[in-house]
Amino acid sequence: MALLRAWTRLSAPIHVSRTFSTTGSTSSWWSGVPLGPPDPILGITEAFKRDENPNKVDLGAGTYRDDQGKPYVLPVIRKAEQRILDRKMNKEYAGIPGVEDFRKGAAKLAFADCHNESLSSTVQTLSGTGALRIGGVFLQRFFPHNKVIYLPTPSWGNHTPIFKDSGLEVKAYRYYNKATCGFDSNGALEDLKSIPEQSIVLLHACAHNPTGVDPKPEHWQEMSHIIKSRNLFPFFDMAYQGFASGDLNRDAYAVRLFLRDGHQILLAQSFAKNMGLYGERAGHLTVVSGSPDEAKAVESQLKIIIRPMYSNPPINGARLAAEVLNTPELYDQWLVELKGMADRIISMRTKLKGHLEALGSTKDWSHITDQIGMFCFTGLDPDQVARIMNEFSVYLTKDGRISMAGVSSKNVEYVANAIHNVTK
Ligand SMILES: Cc1ncc(COP(=O)(O)O)c(C=O)c1O
Repeated sequence: MALLRAWTRLSAPIHVSRTFSTTGSTSSWWSGVPLGPPDPILGITEAFKRDENPNKVDLGAGTYRDDQGKPYVLPVIRKAEQRILDRKMNKEYAGIPGVEDFRKGAAKLAFADCHNESLSSTVQTLSGTGALRIGGVFLQRFFPHNKVIYLPTPSWGNHTPIFKDSGLEVKAYRYYNKATCGFDSNGALEDLKSIPEQSIVLLHACAHNPTGVDPKPEHWQEMSHIIKSRNLFPFFDMAYQGFASGDLNRDAYAVRLFLRDGHQILLAQSFAKNMGLYGERAGHLTVVSGSPDEAKAVESQLKIIIRPMYSNPPINGARLAAEVLNTPELYDQWLVELKGMADRIISMRTKLKGHLEALGSTKDWSHITDQIGMFCFTGLDPDQVARIMNEFSVYLTKDGRISMAGVSSKNVEYVANAIHNVTK
């Protein structure tokens, strides 16, 4: 009941109030500020915290948990931390584009041998969100054609506000097929063919959030072809490289394919998930240009965008990531730990599906194992979501998305039972 009340509050219209004193002046400068709705995902975390059911499960937030349900700091990050501490480095500002070693390592990680350093401008950003925002502002200022960005439907909830606040117009292309809980290849390809030429298209490089549904290599090839021939501009959001399949190269397939196909791209990179550096805010934006001179001009403009926003990015997460990327021994250890996280999530997908079948569910749950990355789009409708939260204290987003990272050996059977009960 409390939850239903919370939902109602979340969707209530914004109330604008303004109070005036008898002299006619406002009683406060801010009396006209309307109360904004809480963030939908953080609202779920709050409701979870208030719930006293000892079996409660939080599958709302997109942060990795170990099999004990605890936040996980990668041992390789602890090691890097110690090495940096031992060096007793100063705390001077980084330059506007960030920590040099991190920039180089990040670009190489994304592009491998498709990387032509002289053609790309990379700036360190406030994680993936910051990269998308700087990229959005750059496009608003300099994209020579339609300042319209097309997002897949659905997309990460923050994409629309990021790009609107950057001054772009936001439109949509089809992506997810509700009937199959898979990629709507016909819809997506059809829409890409009809989007006005010279528009911007946002692509999730891997582990699409919220659906966990990625195009297959042959779909990517076709999309690359259409995007090229229709003169569309691809902006890649790569928040999960390595975290999706456990293989950094496999997860970078689409980005590298587009580069090989001769696209100039924008790329937003995050190290929040694959290095577990969530709060360190370590990310990058790369713009691929047509010539070294263009790349220099682009970098100068990225710096001009960044300077009045926050001057320069934070150094701690950047140093940690650079230490891992540029030290062979640490890099190798990271690969193992990264794969460990991806494998644990993949194994939870198999177990969840297995338990649903063992409980006698007659529904087809193959999408649980077909989807990839942190999230699974269960197919639960809003009523079923409300029921599973109220009756079982299993918390997830209203669209039926669960964070697989919150599923563990201890709760997987309970979660399966809850899903089975609300879907039978
Ligand atoms: C698709 C997508 N893009 C970007 C981000 C940005 O995350 P961060 O700013 O923490 O790197 C996220 C995080 O959940 C995401 O899912």
